Amino acid sequence: MKSSNITWHESTVNKEERQQMNNHKSPVLWFTGLSGSGKSTVSVALENALYERGIRSYRLDGDNIRHGLNKNLGFSPEDRKENIRRIGEVAKLMNDAGLVTLTAFISPYREDRNQVRELLGEDEFVEVFVKCSLEECEKRDPKGLYQKARSGEIKGFTGIDAPYEEPANPEVVVETDKQTLEESVNSIIDYLMKKNCI
Ligand code: PPS
Repeated sequence: MKSSNITWHESTVNKEERQQMNNHKSPVLWFTGLSGSGKSTVSVALENALYERGIRSYRLDGDNIRHGLNKNLGFSPEDRKENIRRIGEVAKLMNDAGLVTLTAFISPYREDRNQVRELLGEDEFVEVFVKCSLEECEKRDPKGLYQKARSGEIKGFTGIDAPYEEPANPEVVVETDKQTLEESVNSIIDYLMKKNCI
């Protein structure tokens, strides 16, 4: 049910002032890619590199968020859409709070990712495509989920019997089956510096 009789209250401190205090902007780095592509690995390493540079950041990760905020959601297209919508809203709050936000969700549908892009605005949304062939992801299979999907134990698994729509124009592409972890992290940091975000 939609809420009614609600009013927006403005703060007296705004986003720009919080960013100024932090000495950096607060983009949302939206990692998207297949299960096992390396979203968590790259975002954890990036979070560490940012921390070492004194940059205030926070990471939202698929498996973790599904333990709490989104524990009532499954993997149907509707639930995945709602998962991404909620994360988009949380990321917007963090953007307003002045933090660099790293989100690591498969986010398989282009339309859902584009809705977050619209919500945040072009300048605040950095789509990071974690590119890795399905063959390589399946070979890695760190949680044994591809094997379960192939045997039919899991239905609707991304890349096997559920779609993954690659980004059409991502701001950054990291290729985890070709680059080292350090190269991937450095390419994202280079992008953020080039855009004067950090
Ligand atoms: S989504 O599509 O963005 O809503 O998914 P996300 O919230 O990122 O959650 C993905 C993790 O959930 C596990 N898992 C599945 N993934 C894909 N399809 C199905 N059916 C599925 N069931 C469970 C899996 O561990 C994903 O984690 P990652 O880190 O991507 O491997």
